[in-house]
Amino acid sequence: MPRARITGTGSALPGKIVTNADLERMVETSDEWITTRTGIKERRIAVEGEFTSTFAVQAARRALEMAGIGPDELDLIILGTVTPDFPFPATACIIQHEIGAHNAAAFDLSAACSGFLYGLSIADNYIRGGLKKKALVIGAEVLSRIVDWSDRNTCILFGDGSGAAVLEATEGDSGILSTHIFSNGSFWETLYQPGCGSRNPGSCGRTIDERLFYIRMEGNDVFKHAVRAMEEAAFAALNANDLSASDISLFIPHQANRRIIDATGKRLGLGEDRVFVNLHHYGNTSSASIPIALDEANRAGRLKAGDIALLDAFGGGFTWGSALLRW
Ligand code: ACO
Repeated sequence: MPRARITGTGSALPGKIVTNADLERMVETSDEWITTRTGIKERRIAVEGEFTSTFAVQAARRALEMAGIGPDELDLIILGTVTPDFPFPATACIIQHEIGAHNAAAFDLSAACSGFLYGLSIADNYIRGGLKKKALVIGAEVLSRIVDWSDRNTCILFGDGSGAAVLEATEGDSGILSTHIFSNGSFWETLYQPGCGSRNPGSCGRTIDERLFYIRMEGNDVFKHAVRAMEEAAFAALNANDLSASDISLFIPHQANRRIIDATGKRLGLGEDRVFVNLHHYGNTSSASIPIALDEANRAGRLKAGDIALLDAFGGGFTWGSALLRW
């Protein structure tokens, strides 16, 4: 049976940086509060004329370049996002057009912060089943457009950007060992965007009057579930492959909050040297956070041939999941 291997990674971020000091001038907060509660120091924010597809296309081109394949060789494009360019058509189709991937099927996937891992899981299974040979999986967000910049509970957390990975069929031992995805819809109201769907259309007065187009979040609830679920997903991946946490060379968790990352790393018994963290620069970029981190780790030489890498995410829905890779 073929296995899917990541042969190229890429990422792209807005040039505009918003620091904690900038936020101090916008809401009642402090660099000290944000740093100690979240670990975030700054985030990248899209400017006018930049959209989710802007960063996704850049990240995709970089991943294709590293893989050394042409866009017309792709037969599948999956974009994880909760901030598409439009409700429809799929932003993945816009990306397909922009990069010239004429032979690919393209669609968007909504699994919030787990979107990239859900996409990786689908692409992996298409490749294992022999139905597709070369896939592009992207996570991309412009969360700044659905964040209430007057709400200190949420506006300090999020950032914009994109990461992408090219997957190719291989008969070798390296590649994606397994993927694991989970959901629990009973918590859907814990983290969501109430407006701009069919329940509260963007055009209805209530959406505007009650500011339903912004992210709503019960931060404490999300926090508690995130730590438990990320541990569960991590052990699902290790157990499925008869491996233990000591076999992990690099743990690349979703970058939501430094305390969630530290608590999960601790439950796995991993030292800081084996946990990849970049959220101090970018904040929580939802579905983009894992592929951005994967690309940075890859380009920094932190993934060597034969290394075991564990990807692990949790997000709205709730959704969560993991992927174990042999690099
Ligand atoms: N600056 C200063 N004070 C603040 C701020 C702020 N930006 N935000 C909240 N506070 C205040 C609150 O009003 C509260 O004050 P009170 O005690 O007078 O009522 C106090 O700080 C404590 O608030 P808590 O919400 O209890 O703070 P907590 O330690 O839980 O941290 C946080 C909040 C950072 C949101 C945390 O719960 C968290 O990270 N949760 C995970 C949420 C998350 O990451 N969501 C992203 C999407 S899901 C995902 O990706 C995992």
